[in-house]
Amino acid sequence: MPRHKSIAILGATGSIGRNAVTVAMGLPTAHVWCLSGSSNLELLCCQADQCRPEYLIAADPEAAEQFEFPEKWRPRVRVGEDALVWAASHEDVDTILAAIVGCAGLASTAAAIDAGKTVALANKEALVVAGQVLLPRARETGAQLIPVDSEHSAIWQAALAGRKEEIERVVLTASGGPFRDWTRDAMRQATRDQALAHPTWEMGPKITIDSATMMNKALEIIEARWLFDLHPEQIVVMIHPQSIIHSLVEFRDGSVLAQLSPPDMKLPIQYALSYPDRLPGCAARLDWSQMWTLQLSPADRARFPALDLGYAAARRGGTAGAVLSAANECAVQAFLDGELGFLEIVESCREVLEQHHFIEQPTLDDLFAADAWAREEIAKWICA
Ligand SMILES: NC(=O)c1ccc[n+]([C@@H]2O[C@H](COP(=O)([O-])OP(=O)(O)OC[C@H]3O[C@@H](n4cnc5c(N)ncnc54)[C@H](OP(=O)(O)O)[C@@H]3O)[C@@H](O)[C@H]2O)c1
Repeated sequence: MPRHKSIAILGATGSIGRNAVTVAMGLPTAHVWCLSGSSNLELLCCQADQCRPEYLIAADPEAAEQFEFPEKWRPRVRVGEDALVWAASHEDVDTILAAIVGCAGLASTAAAIDAGKTVALANKEALVVAGQVLLPRARETGAQLIPVDSEHSAIWQAALAGRKEEIERVVLTASGGPFRDWTRDAMRQATRDQALAHPTWEMGPKITIDSATMMNKALEIIEARWLFDLHPEQIVVMIHPQSIIHSLVEFRDGSVLAQLSPPDMKLPIQYALSYPDRLPGCAARLDWSQMWTLQLSPADRARFPALDLGYAAARRGGTAGAVLSAANECAVQAFLDGELGFLEIVESCREVLEQHHFIEQPTLDDLFAADAWAREEIAKWICA
């Protein structure tokens, strides 16, 4: 019998969070214990009316102060980052769906790991910043990290067919984003709207820009490096425009196993919430009455130099992931605000990564400090 789970959906008002609410509502085994949002508190209250959680968390105290929560929810609203940490480690919660974007999701993810919870992890930045610290902690506390990122979910599923030491390579697929076939010169002029027009996935703005620069794949290389304990050389990136093969695992005998499904995040979210069970669900299905053409080609690292930064940070470990992730978060925001050109996102990240004071065995505090330093450096880049 599938086990009932009490779930905290952190980042419920975002693209992953909204899908997670839909998935959880359809799962007979899931009870939504808490939902969090930051600026979109109106949506948070609508979601709460749907799934009746025990608690609502408004992460941004300023937004919470300006918002009038309906009387029926008011007694059960908690505010601020501390409330996220409180919920993530609460004894009544089995599983945290970590869907906050960026480094803002790190403290609650770390708290859930320290409390030995199951973490369904969409917030890849937490692992990019602190995988080197979090994975050993998870081994100590017995916390289980189940990837929600479609590529890592695919690797997780395919890897179940063998033993860890039998894996020779993993292949991360990438749609190539809206600029897959653009020259560097054309990309230099790319506008915000062009970069936000992803050809296959509907996602939040930050990850959509990351897909256009291919920094998303760079972050995923680092995420895979920690999550599956791989050498960066074992991770290959292939362009797959259809976004149907979500990733592949090559075993030492030459067998390659893949996970396929339409580009719909509801499936990896559901698998992470129902694991180890597979349950009927609401995700889109492949249509076997039509002909499919599935293409794979090597990624072009000259046109998308973010990939080199991902490999470099994955090789180096230490504070490199924190600096790359924070620099990128700031640079993407600056691009969205019209303060930085498209190609400057990766150029500024490279410069900040090269300049940073590297710490090989950082603590979580060192990583937060590296993050803060990188943000200040990008701010200087923007002002220059
Ligand atoms: N979208 C996808 O298909 C996809 C796929 C794979 C992985 N991921 C990863 O999943 C994560 C979420 O992505 P997304 O696309 O869902 O992002 P999103 O649509 O921008 O949603 C982000 C969520 O985080 C909340 N949030 C923002 N800043 C916060 C802060 N400082 N403190 C607490 N909460 C905060 C937002 O609240 P408000 O909206 O209320 O402000 C929202 O609920 C990212 O790490 C991304 O890389 C996403």
